[in-house]
Amino acid sequence: MTESTNPVAALFEMTRKALRQKLELGETEIMIPRENLERMPEPVKDYENLEEFENDINECTKCPLHKGRTKFVFGVGNPDTDIIFIGEGPGREEDLQGEPFVGRAGKLLDKILAAINFERSEVYIANIVKCRPPNNRDPEPSEMETCLPYLLKQIEMINPRFICCLGRIAAQALLDTKLPLGKLRGDFHDWNDRKVMVVTYHPAALLRFPQYKRETWADVQMLRKAYDEFKASS
Ligand code: URA
Ligand code: URA
Repeated sequence: MTESTNPVAALFEMTRKALRQKLELGETEIMIPRENLERMPEPVKDYENLEEFENDINECTKCPLHKGRTKFVFGVGNPDTDIIFIGEGPGREEDLQGEPFVGRAGKLLDKILAAINFERSEVYIANIVKCRPPNNRDPEPSEMETCLPYLLKQIEMINPRFICCLGRIAAQALLDTKLPLGKLRGDFHDWNDRKVMVVTYHPAALLRFPQYKRETWADVQMLRKAYDEFKASS
């Protein structure tokens, strides 16, 4: 059997193996504490395309963030792209328009993309959580855990070669680490069979701390170079 490259599927596979082993060792009942069951994400179904996926989940009520939602912010861009940019969660403008990175930070993201010769429509853009956290607070770990299977499914369907995490929240969630951004940026990280490049600073951080722009530019240029090499060889 081939190993799944989808972390959620891999987790289910591991669980299935562990349970089977217990049965083979003679256990007839398996106890799972209620709180663990309640935290277990439901598997995400298979879909023909991203639109069908979005239509199926855009009324999600699995976490409390849905209560403050104007619009569900699924993600936007080219479903055949080799590069996906991941932010944290919708802000006010994004919540109103239903599209990621359309506010002030989004305008800066467009400039960052333009600096490495990408049009917004050539890439895919999404967030760790699909609904706006109140007052733009950080998403809670439980909210991210609940929403992450959606993003993982999007990544599986788009199957990009490069994943660019914008800021600490996206990087820590996708790499399942607590390391600070300074330790994660500036290099490639293996992620399943792909590379995650935790580029870089979040554009909203750059609005507050323009001194990080130089490092950001270096990060995205490294990404563009690797992308061009990949395209030349494929
Ligand atoms: N910040 C994010 O992380 N995502 C958005 O979509 C907008 C701002
Ligand atoms: N610190 C963070 O946590 N994130 C950024 O994007 C920049 C600085």
